[in-house]
Amino acid sequence: MSLADKISFKMMSFYHETLYSLFRDPYEVLRAAGVTEGQRVLEIGCGPGFFTVPAGEIVGTKGSVNAIDINSIAIQHVREKVSKGPVRNIEVSRVDAADTEFSDEKFDLVFVFGLARSKGSTLGEIWREAFRVLKADGILSVEGGINPPEDLFERTDRRGRIDKFVKA
Ligand SMILES: C[S@@+](CC[C@H](N)C(=O)[O-])C[C@H]1O[C@@H](n2cnc3c(N)ncnc32)[C@H](O)[C@@H]1O
Repeated sequence: MSLADKISFKMMSFYHETLYSLFRDPYEVLRAAGVTEGQRVLEIGCGPGFFTVPAGEIVGTKGSVNAIDINSIAIQHVREKVSKGPVRNIEVSRVDAADTEFSDEKFDLVFVFGLARSKGSTLGEIWREAFRVLKADGILSVEGGINPPEDLFERTDRRGRIDKFVKA
């Protein structure tokens, strides 16, 4: 773990955790993204995990959340957070979102918040992987103004900063 990695995580967690907690309600955002009870959910680029435990709470014991990030410091941080939290249906893995090794069509919903640039593979590769692991009638929810390619996904809804897509 380099010093640069540590500084970059501190900066991200200041914005995506400390500041977010002042003005964002993660439950409201996740509901706008389509997260509901019983779903199998994939969170791509969980960062410091502002949305991770709330997602686990919303999907409940009949659902599950896989939270992934390429940054090992983020993973350690989110694992600690999850271990102290109220739910046991969350798995946190360090993996490049373009090559997750999850089975085809595993997830009811995939959400990608705040991932403006990929630190590993290209965003194009991440969208293809999201398409592969999403069920035929699944939902892709994106925040941050980045759009998946139109040959893979079509937008169905926009609420605030959240865009919802289905498979094209
Ligand atoms: C700005 S943070 C957003 C954190 C969180 N989703 C939120 O909205 O609060 C973007 C995260 O995406 C992760 N990331 C970037 N490229 C990735 C990739 N190829 N695979 C997995 N995670 C990636 C970064 O490490 C970072 O933690």
